[in-house]
Amino acid sequence: TAPTVTLTHGAEMPRLGLGTWPMDDSAAEATVAAAIELGYRLVDTAENYGNERGVGRGLKASGVPREELFVTTKFNKRWHGVELAAEAYERSLDLLGLDYLDLLLIHWPNPAHDRYVQAWQGLARLLERGRLRAVGTSNFKPTHLERVIAETGVVPDVNQIQLSPTVTRESARAYHAKHGIVTQSWSPIGGQRNEVLGAPVVVELAERHGRTPAQIVLRWHMELGLATIPKSTDPVRLRQNLDVFDFSLTAGEVAAISALDQGDAAGADSDVSGH
Ligand code: A2P
Repeated sequence: TAPTVTLTHGAEMPRLGLGTWPMDDSAAEATVAAAIELGYRLVDTAENYGNERGVGRGLKASGVPREELFVTTKFNKRWHGVELAAEAYERSLDLLGLDYLDLLLIHWPNPAHDRYVQAWQGLARLLERGRLRAVGTSNFKPTHLERVIAETGVVPDVNQIQLSPTVTRESARAYHAKHGIVTQSWSPIGGQRNEVLGAPVVVELAERHGRTPAQIVLRWHMELGLATIPKSTDPVRLRQNLDVFDFSLTAGEVAAISALDQGDAAGADSDVSGH
């Protein structure tokens, strides 16, 4: 299993877990069960992925006690309101077949809609009532975080953002660190594009360490102090992606990987204004 990080509101969150996009219900069910069997303890889903039912079945099928698992989901813009966020929470619990969530995230800030502060107040209320162990955001820029913190006084435990060697998000990471917000990387190995895993520096380090390129990249996230949720449906890859806690990269090796950065604008979420 992966080591954990202690979040601001006290929960222990595994540093590495399973991402489940894109997976349909049946792929999610099989993959979640297989991943937990391999030692994964964190599973990340979302309303948007359309697979919460399958994820829930996989969690159950694993036979691992609920309290040993860390389950994250996210809700969409239609639930951006104080009461609406509580409805989104209940809706996800129903689909997942759970009686509590560890972490609930606002999936996107949708700044044009301008209701994310109300959504955040809804999450803060759920946290206060003990329905959640942690609260967070996804795809929030420092300006959005600044507002939720200023207007509610509640600091997110986690901000989940697209982050990989080609999109290193240095200024976001610095902002998160200053506020004790854990950065959780989505698409940590660069998603379906192969440019990160095929990069010469990554391939060379893989040879040097006797590891796969994906393991080098996931270890880079760990060296930077991040949390992450690589996605795979392949049992061999699931196993190798979790197996990154018995070697390390030097500061120079970390810097060589970080040099692949193409800037925040290279991210798929660089423009969140209209969505
Ligand atoms: P697959 O599910 O067929 O394994 P990310 O988590 O960065 O979004 O990346 C997910 C993509 O990378 C998926 O296309 C996944 O495909 C692939 N992938 C996941 N783990 C590995 C690995 N260890 N080696 C190569 N490709 C991987």
